[in-house]
Amino acid sequence: MARPERLSWWLIVTALVWFAAGGILGLFLPALQAFAPQGGAARLYAIALTGHGVAFVFGGLFQLMAGLSLLQARSCMEETGSSPPHLLPRWLYGLLNGGLILLTLASLQGFAPSYTLMYPLPTTGPARGMWGRGPLILALVGIALVLLAVLYLYPAALARTMWGRLYPSRMQWERMRRDPGMLGMAAYIGMMPILGLPVFLLAAAVFAVVLGLLQPEQLPSWCRIPLGPLLPQVRPEVDPWPFNLAFWLFAHNLMEAMGIMALAAVYTLIPLYTRAPAPRLYSPGMGVLAVGLYTFSAIPAFGHHLYTMITTSPPGFIALAQAASWLTGFAAAFTAFNIGATLWRDGLRLHPAPLFVLGGFLLYLIDGFVALQLATRAWNLRLHGTLYVTAHTMTILIAVGMIWLGMLYHHHPGLRGWALEARRGFLHAGLTFLGALGMFYTLLRAGAEGIPRRAYPWPGDGPGVGVAMLLFGVLFGLAQVLFAVHLLRPPQPAASAPRPFPSGEPSPSLQQRPA
Ligand code: HEM
Repeated sequence: MARPERLSWWLIVTALVWFAAGGILGLFLPALQAFAPQGGAARLYAIALTGHGVAFVFGGLFQLMAGLSLLQARSCMEETGSSPPHLLPRWLYGLLNGGLILLTLASLQGFAPSYTLMYPLPTTGPARGMWGRGPLILALVGIALVLLAVLYLYPAALARTMWGRLYPSRMQWERMRRDPGMLGMAAYIGMMPILGLPVFLLAAAVFAVVLGLLQPEQLPSWCRIPLGPLLPQVRPEVDPWPFNLAFWLFAHNLMEAMGIMALAAVYTLIPLYTRAPAPRLYSPGMGVLAVGLYTFSAIPAFGHHLYTMITTSPPGFIALAQAASWLTGFAAAFTAFNIGATLWRDGLRLHPAPLFVLGGFLLYLIDGFVALQLATRAWNLRLHGTLYVTAHTMTILIAVGMIWLGMLYHHHPGLRGWALEARRGFLHAGLTFLGALGMFYTLLRAGAEGIPRRAYPWPGDGPGVGVAMLLFGVLFGLAQVLFAVHLLRPPQPAASAPRPFPSGEPSPSLQQRPA
C-alpha cells in the first residue's frame, strides 16, 4: 500500500475501532433503561451517553469520512501533477485521536456533559461537584485538539490533496462548476474554518481562564457566558444569546457540512455503478445547483436551534432560519430526482457499494421529513428536548455513515488488494438499514409521547422503548460484527465474486470505473 493510502487506511481502521466503542456504549443506554429503570445508574448512563455520542460522531463518522474523502480527493489531484500531502493527514490523525483519548480519560473520571460538549456544560461539573477540575482540564485540551482537527487540519489536508494547495486554480474552479462531487468537498473546505472560528476563539478563551492565563474581567461580557457556572457572580450581567449563536453556527454547520460531503459522495459513486457505457449523471447542472443551494441555505438554517429562546431571538432571524431549513429540503429533493433519473435511464449494477449509498440516501430522505418538521416553529416548540430530536440526530448520522460505508466497499479492493464479498455486503447493508430504521421509529414514537432526551430513567415508559431500542440496536450491531469478521478474514479467491477490480489493481481514482 502506498503511503497516502496507508494513512487513509489508518484513519478508516481507527474509525471502525471508535465505532465499536460507541456501539457498545450505545447498547448500554437502552439496556439500563429497560433493566435498571429505578434510576440507580444515573452516572453510568451520563458517561455512556457522552461516550456514545463522542465516539460515534467524532471518532467514528468524522474520521471515516476524513479517510475516505482524502482517497477520493486524490483522483482530482492526479490532474495537478503534485504529490499528496504527508504531514497534514498525520497531524490530523494524531490530534484527532489524541484529543479523543483525552476526552475518554476525562469521561472515565466522570466528565459527562453529553456529546455536544457545549459550554457552559463542561464548566458546570466542577461547580456542582459532578466532576473535578482535573477531568475538566483534560477534557478542555481534548476538545481543543478535536476542534483544531475538524475545523482546520482536515479542510487544509483536503484542499492540499484536491488542489495541490489551499485554494483552487481557475481551471479547477471551472471543473468544479460541472462536478457536484468536487463541489461538495470544496463546500466543507470553505465553510468550516470560517463558521467554526467564533466557537474556536470562545473555547480558547475559556481554556485560558480555566488555566489561569486570563482573568474573566478581561473578557467581553458575552464571552464570559461559558464561565458562568464557575463564576456565578458574572451570570446576571451577561446575555446568553451571542454565545448560543456562535455555538450553533459551528455545531449545526458541522453536521450539515458532513451531510454535504455525503451528498457529494452519492453524486460521485452512483454513476460508476450504472449500466451506461461511461459514467454519467442525468443532470450535472442540477447536481451543482443542489450542492450550492444546500450549502448556502444550510448556513442560516442553524437558527432553528434557537427557536426555544423566543424571548431573545429576533423574529426576522427566526423566520429566515425556518425558510432556509425548508430550502435545504429542496436541495435534497433535487438530488433525489437527479439520482433517480440517472438510475431510471441507465439502470444499476448490483454491488454492495451503491446499495449502501442508496440505502443511506433513502434513510437521509426519510429522516429529512422529520428534520423539516423540527425546523417548523410550532412543531419545534412541542417536540424540542424529546427523543424525537434524538431520532433525527442519530438517523442523519447513521445515513451519512452508510454512505461512507458504501465508499469503503468501493475503495476496499484498491486499498487491500481484494474485494469484499458481495453477498456478505448485501446482508451487511440490509441489516444495518433495518436496525437503523427500527431505532428511528422507536425514538420517534417515544419522542411524540413526550419522553425527554438525555434523561434517565425514561419517565412513564415501562421497559417498552428500552427493549425495542435494544433489539434494533443488537440487529444493527450484529451487522457491524459480521462486517468486522469479513474485514479480518479475506474470502477465498473463488468465493469473492463479483470483483469490481478483476485484476486486483489499486483503485486510487473515483474517475475509474469498476468493471
Ligand atoms: C448500537 C446501535 C445504537 C443504539 C442502541 C443507540 C442508542 C441510543 C439511545 C438510546 C440514545 C438516546 C439517549 C438519550 O437521549 O437518553 C442515543 C443517542 C444518540 N446516538 Fe445512538 N444508538 C446506536 C447507534 C448510533 C449510531 C450509529 C450513531 C451515529 C453514527 C449514534 C449517534 C447518537 C447520537 C449523536 C445521539 C445523541 C446523544 C445526545 O443527545 O447527547 N447512535 N443512541
